[in-house]
Amino acid sequence: MDVKKHINTDRKDFDKSSLVEGQVSKDPMQLFEKWLQHAIESPDPSPYACTLSTCRDGKPSSRVVYLRDILDRGLVFYTNYESRKGQELVSNPNAVLNFFWPSLERQVRVEGVVNQLESEISDAYFAARPRESQIGAWASSQSERLKNREELEGLVNHFESKFNGKEIPRPTHWGGYRLKPEYIEFWQGRPSRLHDRLAFELTNENWGLTRLSP
Ligand SMILES: Cc1cc2nc3c(=O)[nH]c(=O)nc-3n(C[C@H](O)[C@H](O)[C@H](O)COP(=O)(O)O)c2cc1C
Repeated sequence: MDVKKHINTDRKDFDKSSLVEGQVSKDPMQLFEKWLQHAIESPDPSPYACTLSTCRDGKPSSRVVYLRDILDRGLVFYTNYESRKGQELVSNPNAVLNFFWPSLERQVRVEGVVNQLESEISDAYFAARPRESQIGAWASSQSERLKNREELEGLVNHFESKFNGKEIPRPTHWGGYRLKPEYIEFWQGRPSRLHDRLAFELTNENWGLTRLSP
């Protein structure tokens, strides 16, 4: 194998924008919403995609989820409560959502504590999902082992017949989580690797702001 071919020699410089203390909101959620809006308007294909990291017994695990809402100053995503991430969040509710918006040369790290959303909010969101996704939530015991693809498709058929012609209720094992931020770090790529990093930390209900070395 030609190892050199596979080694990343990307030396792209970053020069799109800058982050200056006096020019950003003192409220990091306002800044987050502004950056999210820029990402939505950018050519990046998945502005809402973020990496969720959880940790159990000192062992971290990560996967991509979609941010679905910002409610009560918390970041909302939906999943299976019995999945690996769901089980990890029961044992340790501290988590991180990490966003990367390449075309804007921006990264945001949001750290905080995760709680299950109120069931009425999850019900309303589930009811608005396409029927196939509702069936999927019933058919998939997310993170459990499957014998093969046919087993999953069999479960889909089973729930399609079970709910044929009926409204599909939200499974109790499926719903939303809200991550309440305690630390939000904004990263803006700058030339020569001298990037801007502004970190907001919540202490006694007040957000403090610090600049970090790149
Ligand atoms: C772009 C993208 C978006 C995703 N969004 C979600 C999501 O919103 N909720 C979810 O449960 N899984 C989502 N997934 C799948 C997860 O990455 C993951 O495979 C799944 O949740 C199982 O993770 P776990 O076994 O660690 O619990 C998404 C994957 C990708 C690539």
